[in-house]
Amino acid sequence: MKLLVCGGAGFIGSSFVRIRIADHGDDVVVLDKLTYAGRRENLEGLGVPLVEGGIEDPVRVAEALDLGGAEAIVNFAAETHVDRSIAEPDAFVRTHALGTHVLLEAAREHGLRMLQVSTDEVYGSIEDGSFTEESPLRPSSPYSATKAGADLLVASYTHTFGLEALICRGSNNYGPRQYPEKLIPLMILNALHGDPLPVYGDGLQVRNWLFVEDFARAIGHVLAHGTPGEAYNVGGPDECPNLEVVRRIVELTGAPESLIQYVPDRPGHDRRYSLGSEKVRALGWAPRVRFDEGLERTVRWYRDNEAWWAPIRSGDYRAYYERQYGRSLGRR
Ligand code: NAD
Ligand code: DAU
Repeated sequence: MKLLVCGGAGFIGSSFVRIRIADHGDDVVVLDKLTYAGRRENLEGLGVPLVEGGIEDPVRVAEALDLGGAEAIVNFAAETHVDRSIAEPDAFVRTHALGTHVLLEAAREHGLRMLQVSTDEVYGSIEDGSFTEESPLRPSSPYSATKAGADLLVASYTHTFGLEALICRGSNNYGPRQYPEKLIPLMILNALHGDPLPVYGDGLQVRNWLFVEDFARAIGHVLAHGTPGEAYNVGGPDECPNLEVVRRIVELTGAPESLIQYVPDRPGHDRRYSLGSEKVRALGWAPRVRFDEGLERTVRWYRDNEAWWAPIRSGDYRAYYERQYGRSLGRR
């Protein structure tokens, strides 16, 4: 299949591209703005053309579509960090609202199928049980609110224009090549360096962990077998409170538990996410990697791939880290 993968230089997008080429022999073109989170090295060795540009730029989108003669668009392109959306929401509105609209118009013009990659966060927080695809959207942060807005726009294009659009809502992903602003890679790299491990609030928030390759496979599966106009939840096989995740990382890295430091909570922090994934399982997808195994693999990958993370830890990331944690951590 010929695919235009937007945001394909990021964490999940690059895993998707790797799997589509290796397992399906797809022809892929990537369109990516190469923000701080997008990295050329994530696509190294794959021989994939990369068009540098924003999905909100119709000229770049048209160029990328012409280059590969795409039959479908898969949209990963997004600003993805909740803390950054609280500090500076502008780019979230631009990319999720305007960018998704530009892609929808391009898909409509060329008669293409489009898969929008979305998140469990659009449903908000849930104390017990799990969200289904019929649950109301109650996003809490500028990140999840703008992702929910994009989902609604996508659904409207099927309803109004008959566009073949699908939505995949994933739970918390983890694995190789995740930017170290997110909980798991941040904790792994800090633990390996003997730096403090900043736990927000009481650390008892619960996330539903999904290995990145499992999510990437689910997206390809829904693209091929899903029904246009439908959304599909893709939840991980295991849930775990944050503090327990951090303790497991401490064990796997051999760092002292005394590195754990409680810091002020994230404003509007969602307590628990949980997805019911019966609908995507009925299409024939199931996760392959349990959290214990995936976490071990992830720690090993970060240990073995200093060349990937060293430039990040010494670059602009330091300024972000200082802004986010500087005042609340004992030493930086
Ligand atoms: P990421 O931050 O690692 O990658 C995002 C990519 O999008 C980067 O390559 C970035 O350069 C690119 N990008 C950002 N703005 C762009 C724009 N305007 N135009 C073109 N490219 C742009 O994120 P990720 O974790 O790989 O997430 C990918 C998608 O999956 C997002 O839509 C996110 O909402 C969704 N998602 C993520 C998770 C998770 O746990 N990480 C879970 C569920 C869903
Ligand atoms: O649920 C899917 C979502 O998962 C994706 O849509 C988002 O793009 C992705 O960033 C992620 O959002 P979270 O806010 O759940 O992930 P994050 O890694 O930022 O935080 C996970 C949990 O850990 C959350 O409860 C906040 C907490 N946390 C995070 C950081 C970075 C800490 O306690 N300390 C930290 O330093």
